[in-house]
Amino acid sequence: MRITFACLLMGLLLAGTVSAKEPEIVKDTFSVIHSRKSVRSFTGASVSKEDLDKIIRAGMAAPSAVNKQPWSFVVVTDKKVIDTLAAGLSTARGIEKAGAVIIVCTDPEKAHMESKDFAIIDASLASENILLATEALGLGGHWTASYPYEDKMKHVRTVLGIPAKIIPLNVILLGVPTGEDKPKDKYQKDKIHWGKW
Ligand SMILES: Cc1cc2nc3c(=O)[nH]c(=O)nc-3n(C[C@H](O)[C@H](O)[C@H](O)COP(=O)(O)O)c2cc1C
Repeated sequence: MRITFACLLMGLLLAGTVSAKEPEIVKDTFSVIHSRKSVRSFTGASVSKEDLDKIIRAGMAAPSAVNKQPWSFVVVTDKKVIDTLAAGLSTARGIEKAGAVIIVCTDPEKAHMESKDFAIIDASLASENILLATEALGLGGHWTASYPYEDKMKHVRTVLGIPAKIIPLNVILLGVPTGEDKPKDKYQKDKIHWGKW
């Protein structure tokens, strides 16, 4: 009888702990989403391998059509290689002080076969997870375009030895933010069509 009561009490305590934590988790998720911004001003400090692994793990947690997970990731921290990449990426603003870059790659042959577009859609979702995880760790980053520019994709493939059939979707610049970049308020009521367009 005593054991049963103790079990019940423990169950209630555990249940209390779980429900007490839920609002905190929800608030934290929204604050990360709304504080994310494209960071182009970096201090020049490096990003740890542990943080990079956490960030990519978040990328891999993204949804994908038929759970095909057609993505793969190239992580570069070597300054010389980053500089070589920068030479062919005219819009990679702030890359000279980035601590690392992640190239989100996608394989159309591994994506849901009903459309090649799924390769891009899935890798884009992984990329957003990467950007959110970066923000959550107090780091900054932004998506620099590679796809759909043939010249940029060719350059990225050549520098990093990426096979021709793989699409290097983007080059995500990562680093320690100076604090200069701020989130934008993009909420526009008139973009919501309640019930019917
Ligand atoms: C597909 C895509 C391509 C982008 N390419 C670049 C780029 O080449 N260079 C850059 O500085 N920012 C690039 N961005 C970042 C956007 O400029 C940025 O997300 C947008 O201005 C909104 O700002 P925010 O991210 O701070 O909310 C890209 C974003 C996306 C989604």
